[in-house]
Amino acid sequence: MNETVGAVWELEGTLTVNIGNRALLKGPCTMKSNARRILIVNGKGGCGKTTIATNLAVTYASLGLNVSLVDNDPQASSTYWCDQRDPALPPISIVASHRRANMYQTQTFHNRIPPETDRIIVDGHSNARDRDLEMLLKQSDVILVPMLPSSIDIRAGGRFIAELLAHRAYRNAPRPVGVIANRVKPNTETHAKLKHFLGCLDVPSVATFYDCPAYLEAAELGQGVVDMHDCRAAIKEAASWLDLVRWIDAQPKTTTVTVQDLRQRPRAAPRHGTSNPRATA
Ligand SMILES: Nc1ncnc2c1ncn2[C@@H]1O[C@H](COP(=O)(O)OP(=O)(O)OP(=O)(O)O)[C@@H](O)[C@H]1O
Ligand SMILES: [Mg+2]
Repeated sequence: MNETVGAVWELEGTLTVNIGNRALLKGPCTMKSNARRILIVNGKGGCGKTTIATNLAVTYASLGLNVSLVDNDPQASSTYWCDQRDPALPPISIVASHRRANMYQTQTFHNRIPPETDRIIVDGHSNARDRDLEMLLKQSDVILVPMLPSSIDIRAGGRFIAELLAHRAYRNAPRPVGVIANRVKPNTETHAKLKHFLGCLDVPSVATFYDCPAYLEAAELGQGVVDMHDCRAAIKEAASWLDLVRWIDAQPKTTTVTVQDLRQRPRAAPRHGTSNPRATA
């Protein structure tokens, strides 16, 4: 029998040694992965979780980092997106964690993250509650909550953030949370409402992305706006993605974070040597 031996890194840092498809040894991982784990989550559907997850993955990949995109949503949108991606573009590994492993694999083997991964981006699903949410929170270093500028989304998003901050898993190990204003139409009443709401929140607003057709085009092609070098609107948006990456990478590691640290609002990240007015909505 042609057997392979491999070490498998779970998101939680458990090491499994496999011979073929049999897990022979399983225990806490002593070789800790330094990959930063970024969770995109909101209990409200359609707010842009997959769009943020895929575009963030592309931004990191374009900077030369090894990126794993974990598709936690049974709708498998990120998996479908990745299937469309041209192999000539900066590569992104997909982990379809929503799928159950087949009978010849352990779930750990199925969900394995390549060991050289620098950033793990999790596309969370809207129905993540209680135990599911707990698992996702425990496996993340930074949490991003996209929010649309509509009364319904603001209300639902506000409730979700309250639920998140009150969750036992979060209270036991607080970590940076940032809200992303998505599909913003500048100078509209709804944008003003969202801005006001975000200003009252206890968590910082860390990025603003415009309502831009380039996102739809990019999604069709398994791309992110950062890949679209010939599209003016995409190039404009790309600057905001780099700002978001800077904010994420400037966050302290989870173990050293205090609640006081997390309450501090971020300074607007510099863009091309100037301050960026869109870094806070
Ligand atoms: N900034 C944007 N500009 C234009 N269209 C956008 C933008 N963000 C998201 N969209 C579009 O909005 C729709 C919903 O986005 P997306 O699928 O990312 O949301 P989601 O939160 O992942 O949804 P679900 O809860 O169903 O998983 C998609 O058609 C997407 O292309
Ligand atoms: Mg989605």
